[in-house]
Amino acid sequence: MCTFVLSKKIMDKNPNRYTITAALPYTNGPVHIGHLAGVYVPADIYARYQRLQNKDVAFICGSDEHGVAITLKAKKEGITPQEVVDKYHSIIKKSFEDFGISFDNYSRTSAEIHHKTASEFFKKMHDAGQFIEEVTEQLFDEETNQFLADRFVVGTCPKCGHEEAYGDQCENCGTSLNATDLINPRSVISGKKPVLKETKHWFLPLDRYEDFLREWILVDHKKDWKTNVVGQCKSWLDDGLRPRAVTRDLDWGIPVPVEGAEGKVLYVWFDAPIGYISSTKEWAERESKKWEDYWKDENTKLLHFIGKDNIVFHCIIFPAMLKAEGSYILPDNVPANEFLNLEGNKISTSKNWAVWLHEYLEDFPDQQDVLRYALTANAPETKDNDFTWADFQARNNSELVAIFGNFINRVMVLTDKYYEGIVPKPATFSEIDEQVLSELNAYPAVIASSLERYRFREAQAELMNVARLGNKYLADEEPWKTIKTDEERTKTVMYVALQIASALAVLCEPFLPFTSEKLKQMLGHAELSEPLSWNGVSSKSELLKPDHKINKAELLFSKIEDEQIQKQLDKLQTSKKMNEIANKKVTPQKETIQYDDFAKLDMRVGTIIEAEKMPKADKLLVLKVDTGIDVRTIVSGIAESFKAEEIIGKKVTVLVNLAPRALRGVESQGMILMTENAEGKLVFVNPGEEGIDNGATIN
Ligand code: MF3
Ligand code: ZN
Repeated sequence: MCTFVLSKKIMDKNPNRYTITAALPYTNGPVHIGHLAGVYVPADIYARYQRLQNKDVAFICGSDEHGVAITLKAKKEGITPQEVVDKYHSIIKKSFEDFGISFDNYSRTSAEIHHKTASEFFKKMHDAGQFIEEVTEQLFDEETNQFLADRFVVGTCPKCGHEEAYGDQCENCGTSLNATDLINPRSVISGKKPVLKETKHWFLPLDRYEDFLREWILVDHKKDWKTNVVGQCKSWLDDGLRPRAVTRDLDWGIPVPVEGAEGKVLYVWFDAPIGYISSTKEWAERESKKWEDYWKDENTKLLHFIGKDNIVFHCIIFPAMLKAEGSYILPDNVPANEFLNLEGNKISTSKNWAVWLHEYLEDFPDQQDVLRYALTANAPETKDNDFTWADFQARNNSELVAIFGNFINRVMVLTDKYYEGIVPKPATFSEIDEQVLSELNAYPAVIASSLERYRFREAQAELMNVARLGNKYLADEEPWKTIKTDEERTKTVMYVALQIASALAVLCEPFLPFTSEKLKQMLGHAELSEPLSWNGVSSKSELLKPDHKINKAELLFSKIEDEQIQKQLDKLQTSKKMNEIANKKVTPQKETIQYDDFAKLDMRVGTIIEAEKMPKADKLLVLKVDTGIDVRTIVSGIAESFKAEEIIGKKVTVLVNLAPRALRGVESQGMILMTENAEGKLVFVNPGEEGIDNGATIN
């Protein structure tokens, strides 16, 4: 009974204020399409949509600049962590701006306001006795003399057996871990097996929040949260929650603000989500708003857009922190997405298997909306999905260009041609006109309903149906024919088509903001006495009145050619090659020899002058080789890689003073030097150059 009442209260909440957060990206690399599809594009669509509903929206993000990911990157590049975060913070911030992600504020966790907010948060919990302070044994790398936590240590996940689980989380099954849970841990820095060493830390006793979390997630939000999110939470809750250290022995991060914590910093996942709060504060200060309205008012709807690897932190740990602190609201929803793959493989920053946003913006200038569209059409909402360049091209050429662009282009061109850009006055509406207009009026609610349920692919597909509606209408009514026979009918048809075009300009804004802007400009929306609203599209009133003047047509979308796509595929191919080289297993170097050892080898240039198969032996060829010293017989195990006739005349390198040895009764008087190519085929270690005499020594 009580449960029912609580759920109903949550469902009924229809707030006017939204705090929408998007996961703070780690500043150890630029942003790629996986981040965009999973987090930033859906969050931006949602924020733009709510603004169009006249809601009071704070869309909040910033750079996540602490944590081991940053320290590791700094080590790898031989620069300081500060240099790493400065570099990537500006790349990321600029690429988000250029891509049209409409954050109200993009902050960074190195900002003073964040250090202050996070420290105060910790202190308040500390002073209220909400941590357990305990000396425990933690993993320690004796070689580098440092404690190992989080991404400094990898090992086997005790839950799923994944061998590359991190010290704080297994990215394969999403489970949050303590470093000491790892089976066979090894230091990422030295590769060594860590030892245990005592150190003091502050633990958040998650077990104390188990009942609250159970009720809140598995009962109250069982129905309105995505099933993947509820499912993951249930599995962790069923396993039982344990205290988790929220401090670390590291020198990069926010110093633990209590006595006896010298040399310790806050765990990155303790400070980063508080970054949402500090970023809101920074924005509110600038805009003269009250930040508390966005974090402490029960009527405000708080939403966290994240990828699935962040679920545990946003649904279990951060809510427990907010609850413990006591004065904050909890998220209403955490619409986490699955992962996007690229051309069939997992996106990977370290393997450079990604499409980087800043590079896309360079290669496809002014085509932000194409990527937004392709990513939403393929959004990994309920399962992992694959991005391919071929699909990207098809989405543009056969959907944006052929459906949306084509409709708008016809409307613009015909209005210009028939009426010099003036919206014509309709005569009487036919039944079809009435039907099309009422179908159009229904679309805002249809699209909204999908968006309210975080079904962005579905919402965008409905948007395209508006353009399809327009195309079908024009194709059926054929104003280009009626213009010769029935002027009044043509005016009516063009009037209706212009209403559809105007509706598209408004409804596409969350998905295709640059297109919306252009289209509104073309249709002269700025000159309307009242700006067109989302809900205006659903009312029966006209969107563009007769006599309104529209502007010149611009091209909304242009065809993407095969060469552009090939260039992107080539880029990926290069990454693949580089990875193969990097990952190649080479035979370890043999022990050092002295020059005298080497000088004992007598290697000469020679030419194969005869070759035939050794009878009844699959691998052996019997060769006659001109070594410059003599012509001698050499038996060589290369018959599987070469036919006898194809190697006659080949120059080769011969070890001539190897003790003779009989193979199948034939004495071999030396050895031809061979190696293997990338495909495992034998090749000659070949002097190659012309003009070298046989018998020339190799030294
Ligand atoms: N930096 C984290 C990641 O990329 C996300 C941090 S989200 C926040 O996975 F809540 F901590 F801010
Ligand atoms: Zn696992």
